[in-house]
Amino acid sequence: MEIINSVKGFRDILPPETDKWRRVEETAYEVFQAFGFREIRIPLLEKTQLFSRGIGESTDIVEKEMYTFNDRGEESLTLRPEATASVVRAYIEHNIHVVEPISKLFTIGPMFRRERPQKGRFRQFHQIDAEILGTDDPHADGELLVLLTHFLKKLGLSHIRLEINSLGCPKCRPAFQKAVVSFLQGREDELCPDCRRRMKTNPLRVFDCKVESCAAVISEAPKLPDFLCADCRQHFETVQESLHLFNLPFKLNPKMVRGLDYYTRTTFEITAEHLGAQNAVVGGGRYDHLVRDLGGPDIPGIGFAIGFERLVSLVPDKDESKGPLLFIAPLGEEALKRAFLLCNELRMENLPVEMDYTGRSLKSQMKTADRLKSAYTLILGDNELKANKALLRDMKSGLQSDVNLASSKEIIMKLKR
Ligand code: HAM
Repeated sequence: MEIINSVKGFRDILPPETDKWRRVEETAYEVFQAFGFREIRIPLLEKTQLFSRGIGESTDIVEKEMYTFNDRGEESLTLRPEATASVVRAYIEHNIHVVEPISKLFTIGPMFRRERPQKGRFRQFHQIDAEILGTDDPHADGELLVLLTHFLKKLGLSHIRLEINSLGCPKCRPAFQKAVVSFLQGREDELCPDCRRRMKTNPLRVFDCKVESCAAVISEAPKLPDFLCADCRQHFETVQESLHLFNLPFKLNPKMVRGLDYYTRTTFEITAEHLGAQNAVVGGGRYDHLVRDLGGPDIPGIGFAIGFERLVSLVPDKDESKGPLLFIAPLGEEALKRAFLLCNELRMENLPVEMDYTGRSLKSQMKTADRLKSAYTLILGDNELKANKALLRDMKSGLQSDVNLASSKEIIMKLKR
């Protein structure tokens, strides 16, 4: 029979890698909670319009990468390519802003983009996403970056680089956009066909183009920070001051526009050298008009998303695959029954215990205990059973001692690895 494999770009995450994923998730819960974030869980499927309006019609994500389908002819639905639009939708739908002036929300889960799979790029990937809604204070931007770098450092990441930029606001960005268009018009013949089109539909997207000739043109293009209005300039300066306060190194990158249309003012990315071509671990920024653009009140927001797979590949390995505390080796039918009882009673006390059901020789059961990396083995023979005894072996030292079966549970519960 033909084997059915997984879909291209969709990946299984197997043990022991799942142990590392759990460690990263647990660290995220711990750190995010300390910074006042609470978890939100949102659906994987949304109305397509949420993303086309939220992320922007002429972005790569919406134009080429979404998994969109007609739900049995009723309506167009899309597997979420990111979480921000969904978090904002939920925020509006449940009137969260009415009960709390500032909301700090985070969510962890899969996202879907139909990109060309390569190292560090998948069609189903995962994000740790955090959003602060309800404040445009630049200290919130600083706080988010402090949280982010603290989290990454706590996981043992080094050689990471934070780049920040300001994309201005609807007051100052049009002048910049105008300057970019007139600059690009003069260099149109050096641009790729996509960028010639983007120049008319969404000129800022030209900044994202990976084609070499376009990148060369963009390196000479007008720079956004030169066009910022007084308010945006002041905002950006305070963000930078708050980073200096924490001695957080960062680099200004005036060409960073990010690939989603909702951004205003502060944007940022964290990259890691070791990742190769797909080197962005984190992307984020402020989106002061997204809530309004999705039909809600005029409430500002800022957030980031960490690429889970890229993050995990940077987190140093730990020996996470601990074996069981105890392996029970029964020799004989009566012993097996007694072992089955003891094994499951100990598991109910949250102790990791394994046993063998096959009635194999002691030698082969000891081999299994070794392979599983069990800290101790309890050898239980029918003869020992009659004498109400068992033999406990410390697998590291090889030391063995008799234990009284009646008190074996209490003795085992006191064992240390
Ligand atoms: P983004 O830059 O599109 O931003 O994605 C954030 C991160 O997700 C990237 O830096 C990368 O690590 C990871 N990522 C993206 N696409 C893939 C892929 N195909 N395979 C593996 N990893 C990937 C956002 O999604 C925004 N929603 C971030 C945000 C939150 N802005 C404000 N709030």
